[in-house]
Amino acid sequence: MARALSVRGLSTVFPSPQGMLTAVDGVDFDLAPGEILGLVGESGSGKSVTLRSILRLVHAPGRVTGQVLWGGRDLLALGESEFRKLRGREIATVFQEPMTALNPVLTIGRQIDESLRAHTRLDRRARRARAIELLDLVGIPAPGTRLGDFPHQFSGGMRQRAMIAVALAGEPELLLADEPTTALDVTIQDQILKLLLGLRARTGMGMVLVTHDLGVVAQSCDRVAVMYAGRIAESGPVAAVFAEPRHAYTRGLIGSVPRAGTERRPLLSIEGTPPGLGERPSGCAFHPRCGFATDICRTAAPPMENVAPDRLSACWNHAAVAAAREAA
Ligand SMILES: Nc1ncnc2c1ncn2[C@@H]1O[C@H](COP(=O)(O)OP(=O)(O)OP(=O)(O)O)[C@@H](O)[C@H]1O
Ligand code: SF4
Ligand SMILES: [Mg+2]
Repeated sequence: MARALSVRGLSTVFPSPQGMLTAVDGVDFDLAPGEILGLVGESGSGKSVTLRSILRLVHAPGRVTGQVLWGGRDLLALGESEFRKLRGREIATVFQEPMTALNPVLTIGRQIDESLRAHTRLDRRARRARAIELLDLVGIPAPGTRLGDFPHQFSGGMRQRAMIAVALAGEPELLLADEPTTALDVTIQDQILKLLLGLRARTGMGMVLVTHDLGVVAQSCDRVAVMYAGRIAESGPVAAVFAEPRHAYTRGLIGSVPRAGTERRPLLSIEGTPPGLGERPSGCAFHPRCGFATDICRTAAPPMENVAPDRLSACWNHAAVAAAREAA
């Protein structure tokens, strides 16, 4: 039975000499079984901390509150051994930094094999064949000769691809992927995205994909959630959000995406920089950079509202933003 992921009121704080710093601030989102959600936003907006919080990888003195419902069970409340059982099998991860995810003292082949052994019923020969196939699918040349290599014998890009192979070996129901293809060249990126989409089509794997690349979101995601200063600013189906953003921040982000063609460009031509954790502005955190800001934006945080079917936005002036898009 495929499961849905429901994140409710997820908040993550880190103590500092200036007091508690809030990196993730009441994040809610839903992921239907087999759905791919793109999580985007500028550097420091809390994307990685959100994924790490879901996976219980934020350690003390950091503190996570809220609920992460996976098929109705709250991952944040599960006992350690129960949680460990489902991590890797039901839920796999790919991180920004591959060296933290790969085991330095085990060969790449062994790490893929362990995942296959734990999560599939393949025999030894079939596992070896599948390991080679997986390395080939993520673009490792001559994969049969690389199974015996240790992570340090791989280049950075190859390690990242090997980490993806390890994560996918167990055919997880859900993949949480943090910039899985960012450091890779475009051909390999496309190959890996195809692999992920193929796996979704075949096994119904759902995915949360953190990326800076709106082209990747357009190409591979069903829905998108835009983060700013630890909160979700807007979410909805990718095509609808890109065609008609309902949050001034989203409008700024996609203003930097070429309208025609598939040319890839990183996010961002919004003036100014996002606030640091200790200096979040009052009201809507985006107001100092926002061309749509009105008085209320400076004093009151906008609530998340249903602004259209299947679309949520937390912007006081979402109607004006939508109208401006039409006029543009
Ligand atoms: N362990 C920690 N202690 C204190 N602050 C932290 C910790 N981990 C993350 N932060 C802060 O939380 C904020 C959000 O960080 P996060 O890594 O989630 O950003 P991000 O959206 O993933 O950015 P990027 O696009 O650069 O990867 C940042 O200001 C970061 O410095
Ligand atoms: S709430 Fe106000 S400041 Fe925030 S994005 Fe919307 S218009 Fe801009
Ligand atoms: Mg990050």
